[in-house]
Amino acid sequence: MNDHFPILEETRPTMSTVRPPFRIGIIGTGGIAHAHADAIRDLHPRAEIVGVVDLDPDRAAQFAADFGVGAIHVTADELLARGDVDLVCICTPPETHAPLAAAAARSGIASLVEKPTALSLGELDELARAEAETGAPILTVFQHRFGPAARHLRSLAESGVLGRPLVATCETLWFRPDEYFAVPWRGRWEVEGGGPTMGHGIHQFDLMLAILGDWTDVTAFAARQLRPTDTEDVSLALVRFANGALATVVNSLVSPRETSRLRFDFEYASIEVEHLYGYTSADWTFTPAPGHEHLTAAWEHPNEAGATSGHRDQLAAILDAFEHGEAPGVGLAEARRTLEFAAATYASAFRSRIVSAGELIGDDPFVAGMSGGIVPWAPVKAVLA
Ligand SMILES: NC(=O)c1ccc[n+]([C@@H]2O[C@H](COP(=O)([O-])OP(=O)(O)OC[C@H]3O[C@@H](n4cnc5c(N)ncnc54)[C@H](O)[C@@H]3O)[C@@H](O)[C@H]2O)c1
Repeated sequence: MNDHFPILEETRPTMSTVRPPFRIGIIGTGGIAHAHADAIRDLHPRAEIVGVVDLDPDRAAQFAADFGVGAIHVTADELLARGDVDLVCICTPPETHAPLAAAAARSGIASLVEKPTALSLGELDELARAEAETGAPILTVFQHRFGPAARHLRSLAESGVLGRPLVATCETLWFRPDEYFAVPWRGRWEVEGGGPTMGHGIHQFDLMLAILGDWTDVTAFAARQLRPTDTEDVSLALVRFANGALATVVNSLVSPRETSRLRFDFEYASIEVEHLYGYTSADWTFTPAPGHEHLTAAWEHPNEAGATSGHRDQLAAILDAFEHGEAPGVGLAEARRTLEFAAATYASAFRSRIVSAGELIGDDPFVAGMSGGIVPWAPVKAVLA
């Protein structure tokens, strides 16, 4: 660890050592639950799904049949009350994440919550209280931190071998047609929490924050350019980091040629990745600065047979941590830093001024919700509903 990368204070619970097989429950059996179930199947016999639940019983039944799960529960509470669940994957729409994670904690069960962890900083702080009271870890899915290349970059950056981080660019340029927003929970502040800042680009800028550490200031724009949403469909932010690095972040859902890009310019090398929904090590490039060509060898790392960064990498890391009695990732302190960055993006955009880390506290409206109650365009979804 060098001076440019202060570690977040770790107060996370670790769970006393859990031995495999890890017994996992899944709440919500829609689209992303399949990525969780595939990861669990891949990690068998270390992990197994012991029960599932969905508001739609037919969907739960089909999912259980597809993944060979014996128990379908009627409610999340019933699943949490089984008494044999080590970890519950919360794969439901965003508005349900915090209440379900709090219920899991109160049942003494660790949770792995899909992003965004909560709809607001206020909700996330409630979760931190539940975690502190119960000791049950509440983790967020940020799978792109766990691919081999990202893990390697983080350790190189922390070692200081790349020199100071100077500049970064972070782009999530995706395309979601109007029909994507026909699903009732999408595009609404009160259900999804926000647009691409909260739901799509959050993966990329979470990875940027995991590499560059604490941010200090954000100045941003947000707009609804095209889509039938209450939320933004584009946001842009300029960021300053505690270590002096500067970055730009673009989150878009209106970009016909889709890509996800991250670039880090350190004193002695540029490291870049371009992918869409998951990267392999081959998607990364390393360019040494003149006179620092010897560093190319330091970038060599295992490719794990071209595996794409995904839920499996994160789940495997969580199981390792449980087995060794260590704090699993991504814990609430790091998830909060990422959520606060999203809140600052909205607050800066809607207040037309720079927002500093730690500024959104107490009864600030951007603590209660990402819209801050001052969105400068009229809602459409609420009217249509
Ligand atoms: N990590 C990623 O790369 C990634 C990718 C896509 C989606 N997501 C996130 O995953 C979450 C779910 O997205 P999705 O696309 O799978 O949605 P989805 O609509 O396909 O599935 C959600 C399921 O949850 C069920 N559900 C809702 N409330 C419930 C409750 N209280 N109890 C039990 N079941 C309930 C619904 O019936 C539905 O089957 C969202 O937060 C989304 O942002 C993450």
